[in-house]
Amino acid sequence: MSSAPQSGGRNPAQPFLSDIQELRRRAREHISQGAVTPGYHADRDTVVKLLNEALATEIVCTLRYKRHYFMAKGIHAEGVAAEFLEHSQDEQQHADQIAARITQLGGEPDFSPDGLATRSHAEYVEGNSLEDMIKEDLVAERIAIDSYREMINYLGQEDSTTRRMLEEILAKEEEHADDLASLLEGMGGQH
Ligand SMILES: [Fe+2]
Ligand SMILES: [Fe+2]
Repeated sequence: MSSAPQSGGRNPAQPFLSDIQELRRRAREHISQGAVTPGYHADRDTVVKLLNEALATEIVCTLRYKRHYFMAKGIHAEGVAAEFLEHSQDEQQHADQIAARITQLGGEPDFSPDGLATRSHAEYVEGNSLEDMIKEDLVAERIAIDSYREMINYLGQEDSTTRRMLEEILAKEEEHADDLASLLEGMGGQH
């Protein structure tokens, strides 16, 4: 059996990754910890805490978009309401993804309505006009974008699964902010 040329002076008897037997032994030993293996380097309690804040943010954003969807009135209302509804569904999906990751990490997703608005980074602002609603949603999206960026930087290489999930969510929040900015532009002077 031929093998690929060795580089970097690595001893072929010493596998590149941890020895497979050792990996299996550790997997059995820590089986009760689910997806969290000893190779997990992040501070799990901190990651769960950050994810619970993100969860609260997504729930608050879901609720705010729902409110805006049902309250949208005026000549631009139809298209804007459809956008609000779509965003509320995206935020709901983000909340679900984050809650699932929290349980994978052995934590508990915090869905308690007590203190929800305090845990959330973004605010729940009802808004009086269609334009106000769009502006408040844009502010909330920009807050979410900044806090996801910070979380992604914090995680670095320590928990790449959580980081990838947050990067996907961040891309969606950027899309949301862009949608809202276009809606605001489209309303210019006609209200
Ligand atoms: Fe979201
Ligand atoms: Fe969003």
